[in-house]
Amino acid sequence: MPKKIRLGILGGGGDSLIGVLHRVASHINDNYQIVGAVFNPDFEQNMAFAKEIDIPTDRIYKDFDTLIEEEMKLPKDERIQVCSVLTPNFLHFPMAKKLLENGFHVICEKPMTTTLEEAKILEETHKKAGTVFALTHTYTGYPMVRQMREMIKAGALGKIHKVDARYYQGWINPIIHDKEKRSSVWRLDPKKAGISSCMGDIGVHAFNLVEYTTGLEVKSLLCDFNYLYDDNQMDVDGTVLIRMGEHVKGVIRGSQVATGEENGLAIAIYGEKASFRWEQEKPNFLYMMSDTEPTKVYKPGHAYNSEFSLDGTKLPAGHPEGIFDSMANIYLGAARAIRGEEQNDGAFPTMRDGVRGMNFIEATVESHKNGNTWVDLED
Ligand SMILES: NC(=O)c1ccc[n+]([C@@H]2O[C@H](COP(=O)([O-])OP(=O)(O)OC[C@H]3O[C@@H](n4cnc5c(N)ncnc54)[C@H](O)[C@@H]3O)[C@@H](O)[C@H]2O)c1
Repeated sequence: MPKKIRLGILGGGGDSLIGVLHRVASHINDNYQIVGAVFNPDFEQNMAFAKEIDIPTDRIYKDFDTLIEEEMKLPKDERIQVCSVLTPNFLHFPMAKKLLENGFHVICEKPMTTTLEEAKILEETHKKAGTVFALTHTYTGYPMVRQMREMIKAGALGKIHKVDARYYQGWINPIIHDKEKRSSVWRLDPKKAGISSCMGDIGVHAFNLVEYTTGLEVKSLLCDFNYLYDDNQMDVDGTVLIRMGEHVKGVIRGSQVATGEENGLAIAIYGEKASFRWEQEKPNFLYMMSDTEPTKVYKPGHAYNSEFSLDGTKLPAGHPEGIFDSMANIYLGAARAIRGEEQNDGAFPTMRDGVRGMNFIEATVESHKNGNTWVDLED
């Protein structure tokens, strides 16, 4: 049995949304042990949280720079091997860059950076570093999403001609309609969140899912945003027309003001032979539709699924696979890559997905600002 991989955590403190998902996911396949962290910029809260979750406090650092400095003094076989970057968006780039420059592997939250330029710099840094970089587009870890990808790759839908992906939430309603609140949260502050709220936070997940499942790339897009209030600088809703080829078109829809919606990520992919429909809130059901046969429902854990999909299930069919399992599959992929083991293509989203994602976000903003014009994405 190989030793556990020594994991460091940046952000993801007791006050955070996403920290628990990463901590649990990193433990699910018994690959990682958290050995160091800066959970929080406030040292007292940082230490208190480490104690609360029973992590030795000798490697809980006052800030990120100190973590790098002190860890680099340790022998290589004691040092943190991989760091998860779970901080607000604007810190992803400086943290990931410095980690890569110092030889650490990185697991990074999305959006990867705040600009395409930063994404490209990070890509170059990563090439030089040669370490593993995994981007946590969580939804790619679901067994039924992996099944969709494998079946599409094998030609089950025939030629794809239409894609419709949406990510609808309503959580920002109580914030956006309150003048004081909408000017104080980090997610609506361009300095901390980047140039886009809705597309940067959730539209980019839908975009990633489109490219991940179809194996096709978005070539150009046209976007229309809704900011709702004149003093709000960030989109909270948007509709994006996409072209993935001359006869492959579709739409990506995102909203943070879709009242009553929770995590309504859904994708439909229509091909000449058949189509897929999948919803994040019911992730264990993958619907395959055709014009000539009754609808089929694929479910995780059955032998009829691809090896890649089955690799992401741990219990017999009928035990629901959820968001923790999905993120755990990404951590599993990263662990295998860190250990230099062979594995399926698509085991975790990569630097390429991060650069594509930033290209998408910037293009949506540019399209909207230009008066809803078509904008090409880079190759
Ligand atoms: N993959 C997903 O599905 C998903 C879901 C939610 C959030 N996210 C991403 O995760 C990131 C964090 O989101 P969140 O909702 O947890 O944010 P949050 O505001 O709830 O938590 C951020 C955490 O970072 C800590 N932090 C802030 N500055 C820090 C610093 N300088 N050093 C160390 N820690 C610091 C805060 O104390 C807090 O614990 C964002 O980039 C977001 O886009 C991804």
